Amino acid sequence: MDASSPIGFFDSGVGGLCVRDAVCALLPRESTVYIADSANCPYGNKPADEILRIARGHVETLLAKGCKMIVVACNTATAAAIDALRAERPDFPFVGMEPAVKPAALRSASGVVGVLATQGTFEGRLYRETCARFARGVTVIACVADEFVKLVERGETSGERAERIVRAKVEPLLAAGADHLVLGCTHFPHLKPLIEKVAAGRAQVLDPAPAVAAQVKRVLASRGLLNPGLTAPSHEFTRTARG
Ligand code: DGL
Repeated sequence: MDASSPIGFFDSGVGGLCVRDAVCALLPRESTVYIADSANCPYGNKPADEILRIARGHVETLLAKGCKMIVVACNTATAAAIDALRAERPDFPFVGMEPAVKPAALRSASGVVGVLATQGTFEGRLYRETCARFARGVTVIACVADEFVKLVERGETSGERAERIVRAKVEPLLAAGADHLVLGCTHFPHLKPLIEKVAAGRAQVLDPAPAVAAQVKRVLASRGLLNPGLTAPSHEFTRTARG
């Protein structure tokens, strides 16, 4: 394992590709290995201990492939597992997802922010602490949008039915006065054009992926692990099969 080793990513499916793509855009010399865990999708309503068990398996796989860092490219898995994964390997760099509640709360003029995520993310310590620290005086409305995960996994990110499903979740947030919508699940940026269409002129849509990519860069740089780019980067995609 050295600076030329790949960065590992995992998610319950294709959602975390948004995060991988943001990392590749910022760090085009880096190689990546991505696990789309379709066999266990969705994570959103699974108990935290089950997600931790699943996440440990992906960490083993990515370490066996020589990854120098692992990005938990899933808000639900970050909520359920990242504390334990870090405690189990204190010297290894893990980067997780954080719902962009802080920038949304800071920028909100209406004082109302909507967060779209899974039940598991809303139940996590990180989400509760982020709201308590950064959203004081702001009303944060949590909206569980599991249906969006299904749409994205089916590749249905446009069309009438997808718009109807997106509208059913987003309209109540807008009606409650939300002027910022936080994409708190890595599947949801795939639906960003549709969410933006519904929210046009009423709310900004925030995707935390670029901030996570910046954190990946900071952590790699601090450890001298940025790829000098002596060889062309490679990108591996693996999908776990349903049993
Ligand atoms: N992409 C995931 C997240 O960021 C999980 C979606 C799911 O499997 O329920 O939360």
